[in-house]
This record gives sequence, C-alpha cells and structure tokens, in this order.
Amino acid sequence: MEIIICKTKEEASRKAADLVAALIKAKPKAVLGLATGSTPVPMYQYLAKDCAAGKISFKQVKSWNLDEYYGLAPTHDQSYRYFMDKNLFDHIDIAKKNTHVLNGLAKDWKKEVAAYEAAIKKAGGIDLQVLGIGSDGHIAFNEPGSSLTSRTRIVSLTPQTIKDNARFFKKAADVPKQALSMGVGSIMEARRIVLLAFGANKADAVKGAVEGGVSQFCTASALQMHQDCWFFCDAAAAAKLKLRKYYAWRAEEALKAEMGA
Ligand code: F6R
Repeated sequence: MEIIICKTKEEASRKAADLVAALIKAKPKAVLGLATGSTPVPMYQYLAKDCAAGKISFKQVKSWNLDEYYGLAPTHDQSYRYFMDKNLFDHIDIAKKNTHVLNGLAKDWKKEVAAYEAAIKKAGGIDLQVLGIGSDGHIAFNEPGSSLTSRTRIVSLTPQTIKDNARFFKKAADVPKQALSMGVGSIMEARRIVLLAFGANKADAVKGAVEGGVSQFCTASALQMHQDCWFFCDAAAAAKLKLRKYYAWRAEEALKAEMGA
C-alpha cells in the first residue's frame, strides 16, 4: 500500500488523476473500474479537463462501475448510471457503449451479475479500480460483515444507509433497499487500486483500512492484501494514521518513480 497524504482534496485528486492519466497514455485501451459518490468528483473533473486539453483520450477506454441501486431505472436522477453520465461520461470523449453500469432493473439479477463479471474478464480484467470509502470502511456496497471473497451480487443496504439516502428521494418508500455491487473479491482482482478519502469523517475508516487488522468489519482493510494499492487522502482523512509521517516520506519517492519524474 502507498499512502499519499496531501493538504487538500484538490491536491490529492490531481495526483490521483495523474496516475489515471498516465495509465491511459501508456495503454489507450485501458479498462477502468469506476466509483460514484462525492469523493471521486474532483478527480473526474481533472480528467475531463485533461481530456478537453487534448492531454488524454478515452476513445478506446472501457469502464465498469462498482455498483447500482436495485430497482432504479438508469434514467432515475439518483441512479449511478445517471451520476456517471452527469459527472464524467458527458464531459469526456468516451464511447457510451464502452461504459458499463450494472442494470438496476434487471429482472434476473443472478444473470446480470454473472454477465457483468464475464464481460470484465473478456475485456482482460480491470487495469485500475477507483474507490471511495464509506465512514464504516465499506468499499462499493460491501458493508461491514461482507465476505472478503464476495463476488458481484445483490446486497441489502443497512437501515442506516437507507435512512441516510432518504434525503435524495421524494418519499421514504422510494429509497432502494437493495443494490447490485461488485464484491470485495471481485475488486481485489483489479491490477491497480486507487482509493480516495477526504474529510475528518473518513479518518476512522482510513485508520481501520490501513492500520487495523484485515477484517470483514472494515471491508477496505482487504486492500492491505493487494499488491498495487494507492490511497490518496487529504490531511483530515489521514489524521488518525499512526505512521503517517513515514507514509508521506516513502510515498513521495514512490509517486515520483511511478510518474517517471
Ligand atoms: C460508490 C461506492 C461507495 C462510495 C462510499 C463513499 O460507487 O461504491 O462505496 O465510494 O460510500 O461515498 P462518498 O464518496 O459519497 O463519501
């Protein structure tokens, strides 16, 4: 694990975007794994700027997203497909047919998740997976208690998550109670992982993921077992890390080596 600690989320997002851009330059047909949520938005904006400036092109890139609410149409303004279009795909030169989000309306979810995993495999697997982290240490919709070998499947949201999401919907009954989500085991197959974490409310989750024991009660802790995993944190999210000075010292060199600087 490399832990990159920046003063601000903008600085961390720029550095993470540089890592994604470097991959796309080296491999124009890169396969990306993407996340929704507020955290990756600044990084997506930097990537869109780089694309508009002609520095990178997504024309041959393919993407697969982590998760989708089960029961929501892709056109619903709270669906993750809608989110990705509005926050990234509409601003870059990617072919929409190359972007994949689980179908929240799939009647047969087992068929849907099997086809999704098979398609990722057929594309050669994910080169780089972007992740956020929940304040309880979840990655994708792998809430505490999810198996660390889980695959893409249907999951039940926790009562807390349903309550938290209620503000985005007209009435409580509209809030989805299930989602389709890549599993921890599926995520671990990505060749590189880039996790972003910003703000003081992520400090416990980052501490658990980086310095806690590997446990299904903090599913991000499984990333300690990944061979090529980068955490990009702002100072607030990294504040509880015991070894943060050491990580900062080491990571600067690792990032320079990676970017060929
Ligand atoms: C999103 C996802 C979630 C989020 C996490 C953090 O596709 O899978 O695990 O990454 O809930 O959300 P934000 O970034 O909104 O704090």
